[in-house]
Amino acid sequence: MADTLKGRHVLITAGPTREPIDPVRFISNHSSGQQGYAIAKACAALGAKVTLVAGPTALADPDGLETVHVETALEMLAAVEKALPTDVFIAVAAVADWRPAEAADKKLKLDKGEFTSLALTENPDILKTISHLDEDRPGLVIGFAAETHDVEALAKAKRVRKGCDWIVANDVSGDVMGGAENAVLLVMEDKVEVWERMPKQAVADALARQIAAAL
Ligand code: C5P
Repeated sequence: MADTLKGRHVLITAGPTREPIDPVRFISNHSSGQQGYAIAKACAALGAKVTLVAGPTALADPDGLETVHVETALEMLAAVEKALPTDVFIAVAAVADWRPAEAADKKLKLDKGEFTSLALTENPDILKTISHLDEDRPGLVIGFAAETHDVEALAKAKRVRKGCDWIVANDVSGDVMGGAENAVLLVMEDKVEVWERMPKQAVADALARQIAAAL
């Protein structure tokens, strides 16, 4: 079993996406990017070439890897496709499920009645898209699942639905979103591992080792 990622290219998405309503407003979520950045650092520490495609976060670009900054889900998908082919793809980003159907090019004015309703359109599912590629599908595709209940059953179903190889599932019923720790289930095709609650960097280090062993 290998304990190194030398010679491997790992592609990771992290953080939220920001979907513009107009030049000053957007739809987004509370993802901090911490877990994805931690995984990127852990893979780089094991010797991988790492491309980190990151939505807006407060985190500094990690040393020793390439960080590609994006805002929207469409930009994130394009940056991911541009980075292929890679050996591994890890989708950690909390991609906004919807975006405004049309972003206004001028600030919408409340007093002029310009902001009465918002038409939304679905964003592409980046994990599902990459999982179903024919030629450029990375050999190992890993998704994340944040659930508040029935974590294992929902994660198993998500693994199949997304077409990925592994799902890292976390229970977000506590303070995981934006918090420093994570309690994880690793759902693979033929087994499920239950990891004790630990800091996000420790989750990342353990995942990087597991990836190295699987390749
Ligand atoms: O369906 P759900 O959002 O719960 O799935 C989460 C997983 O799918 C995460 O790995 C996330 O990065 C990925 N995802 C994605 N593109 C989307 C939505 C989710 O890559 N539009």
